[in-house]
Amino acid sequence: DVVDVRSLVQQGLFTYDPGFVSTAACESKITFIDGTNGVLLHRGYPIEQLAQHSDYLETCYLLIHGELPSNEELGHFKSMVKNHTMVHEQLNHFFNGFRRDAHPMAIMCGVVGALSAFYHDTMDSTDEKHREIAAFRLIAKMPTLAAMCYKYSIGQPFMYPRNDLDYAANFLYMMFGTPCEEFVVNPILAKAMDKIFLLHADHEQNASTSTVRLAGSSGANVFACIASGIAALWGPAHGGANEAVLSMLMEIEDESRIPEFIERAKDKDDSFRLMGFGHRVYKNFDPRAKVMKESCDQVLQELGLEDDPLFKIARRLEQIALEDPYFVERKLYPNVDFYSGIILRAIGIPVSMFTVIFAMARTVGWYSHWNEMVSTDYRIGRPRQLYTGHTKRDYPG
Ligand code: ACO
Repeated sequence: DVVDVRSLVQQGLFTYDPGFVSTAACESKITFIDGTNGVLLHRGYPIEQLAQHSDYLETCYLLIHGELPSNEELGHFKSMVKNHTMVHEQLNHFFNGFRRDAHPMAIMCGVVGALSAFYHDTMDSTDEKHREIAAFRLIAKMPTLAAMCYKYSIGQPFMYPRNDLDYAANFLYMMFGTPCEEFVVNPILAKAMDKIFLLHADHEQNASTSTVRLAGSSGANVFACIASGIAALWGPAHGGANEAVLSMLMEIEDESRIPEFIERAKDKDDSFRLMGFGHRVYKNFDPRAKVMKESCDQVLQELGLEDDPLFKIARRLEQIALEDPYFVERKLYPNVDFYSGIILRAIGIPVSMFTVIFAMARTVGWYSHWNEMVSTDYRIGRPRQLYTGHTKRDYPG
């Protein structure tokens, strides 16, 4: 009963760890984070070096296979991803069943989960070939489905993928192209988009990745597992942060109101926090934020948006927070979401699509963790609980 479990906790025979702050649920060789020193390594490679020398698809290969590809391996990987960019025509009917004003993450949960119904015959997780084809399908189809969500919301026709374009450029084409006129993708924006994908590709056992592992531990279909990751990512405490940054910038509205919001962020009686500042794991700096800031500067310059009022508020906020003792003492630096939100907004991506883009990028991380788990001996995940309800009692009468 209740008392017995508490005594087990006291004896150290049972751990009670809300939020899993100090409990590892698995072993993993994929990603290493040292939050104190601002280190993020994928298969041993620092994220800054990957951002400088690699691209998203090569990083996908690295996360899945554990090593960087040779030129030949990379060529094969990229062409396999291109082979799978189209989605089954019948999936269009799924979109038509949703309200046009539905949140795109709600639609993504549905359509990605629905992929399990299309590929149920190649879903033996003990078969390496089946797992490999699932990886190609997921990485290739996520941008197509994401762009379809956007097109559906604005009532425009879906754009078929263009396999002559790189991964990020193809996504921008499917988002902003129309059948009526030629659409030329700006290479600087495509590069910034690719960086956003690369910097969000994996982040070890966060809430959504742990959800994918837990769902997968029951032997569930990989597409259904990825849909569970999308659901977990949707929340504002996880993937929704860059959306919250933009909402905050719009609420501030004018540079003159910044001090008022800074004071609110410091006030312990006010629940308001400066969105895009601070991180649960990175307590000195987020290595991804530095790369993202450079990319952000390039995009704003390319688009001539440096004087846009919203972006000026962001710049001023960043400056004040970096100088204000409250933020400095607590090491509350702008995080990756602060800059990614600004870049996405500048590119013209609607705020409601921000988390979808995070989900697209993180799909490879979710897949890699699922693949790592099902490739070895694993047990179904089954957390314990500390029961604090009634002891046994009799039904009245
Ligand atoms: N604005 C104002 N004060 C803050 C902020 C903030 N954004 N973040 C933390 N603080 C303060 C806390 O009030 C606390 O102050 P105190 O010591 O006087 O009590 C101190 O800094 C430490 O904060 P914690 O809440 O202990 O930090 P924690 O690690 O629990 O939270 C979190 C991290 C959730 C990210 C927090 O910084 C936050 O809410 N930031 C804003 C939301 C955000 O940007 N989230 C995205 C994170 S990045 C990602 O998920 C990819």
